[in-house]
Amino acid sequence: MPRNARVAPGMSAVVSRYRETNYNHGRYMATGACTNTMRESLLILNGPNLNLLGTRQPEVYGRETLGDIEAHCTQVGQGFGIGIDFRQSNHEGEIVDWIHEARTKHAGIIINPGAYSHTSVAILDALLSVDLPTVEVHLSNIHQREEFRHHSYVSRAAKGVICGFGSLGYILALQALAAEIKSRNQQAMAQA
Ligand code: DQA
Repeated sequence: MPRNARVAPGMSAVVSRYRETNYNHGRYMATGACTNTMRESLLILNGPNLNLLGTRQPEVYGRETLGDIEAHCTQVGQGFGIGIDFRQSNHEGEIVDWIHEARTKHAGIIINPGAYSHTSVAILDALLSVDLPTVEVHLSNIHQREEFRHHSYVSRAAKGVICGFGSLGYILALQALAAEIKSRNQQAMAQA
């Protein structure tokens, strides 16, 4: 982690553990008495059409590009000592494959499934299969919009849902999962 990275309140324990350990592809082995393998990276998934952010209906989705959001998430993730794997796909099956892969690679998932939120039982089933803490994010407030956007299949697998705050929603989701990871790590250490 860069020396000048900001550490969010409440995350000092996780960050100092990060400093003491050997970070390797989103995992680390604790160097002290606890030898559990800790997964310290998050998968951030973006569904169809989100690659067009910045020019796509800016009055609804804002002017930030997906690249801007990725850069911000990566920076905030560094502050928490958490690696970010940020991806986008227009293909449902590819998103399902990435969720499966996350099972052994990541500590949690943030997902903006785009239009698949409202249609995809396959993405819901994939999330239910991997048992990782998941936060669903929408840039827009889907409940203020057309009725077909009010229901999300994905929400059934999500620990929480954040919508209507634009790109800030990704950062709020990251904070929520960082707290979740911290508490899981503390429990694992206590049991070791
Ligand atoms: C969205 C909302 C969805 O209804 C829509 O299909 C999207 C983006 C959002 O971020 O607000 O593609 O997930």
